Amino acid sequence: MSLKTLLYVSESLLRLPEEAGRLRNILETSRSRNAALEVTGALVAARGHFAQVLEGPDGAVASIMASVSRDPRHRRVTTVLERAIAHRQFEAWSMCLAYSGNSFYVDRHIAPLLDAPGGGAGAPPLLASQLFYLIRELTLAARR
Ligand SMILES: Cc1cc2nc3c(=O)[nH]c(=O)nc-3n(C[C@H](O)[C@H](O)[C@H](O)COP(=O)(O)O)c2cc1C
Repeated sequence: MSLKTLLYVSESLLRLPEEAGRLRNILETSRSRNAALEVTGALVAARGHFAQVLEGPDGAVASIMASVSRDPRHRRVTTVLERAIAHRQFEAWSMCLAYSGNSFYVDRHIAPLLDAPGGGAGAPPLLASQLFYLIRELTLAARR
């Protein structure tokens, strides 16, 4: 089975923390559907942006991205990293909420990718990799 990982960023239309219940709904849906499709990953919500890693079988990731892309709870969904993988990095989580809050530090890793000229394809690859590893670190910290 061929596995892939995908990282996208987007502009959130949720008002947090007031609409934390809507974020919980996203996580509940994600956890059950991702588990059924053998997709794993993590979500970050910081200062009006989302960043999410999805990893799993090609077709499963594509079908979740089709839903996510048309979801009215966010906009400007921009894929910044996509590649084939031999092993999962988020194997323990159907969808971890790696971070939710007002950190400028976390947001500074997301916003420049969304605003990169040319969109996802034009996003500097180093920034996308740094965001990927930040999400991985936050995921490990969230588990403790
Ligand atoms: C930021 C964000 C992340 C989401 N992540 C996932 C996810 O990982 N898995 C998932 O099944 N749905 C996710 N959703 C919800 C989907 O967009 C969608 O509502 C849900 O999968 C139902 O699909 P459908 O609308 O095609 O029926 C996410 C939504 C948002 C706004």
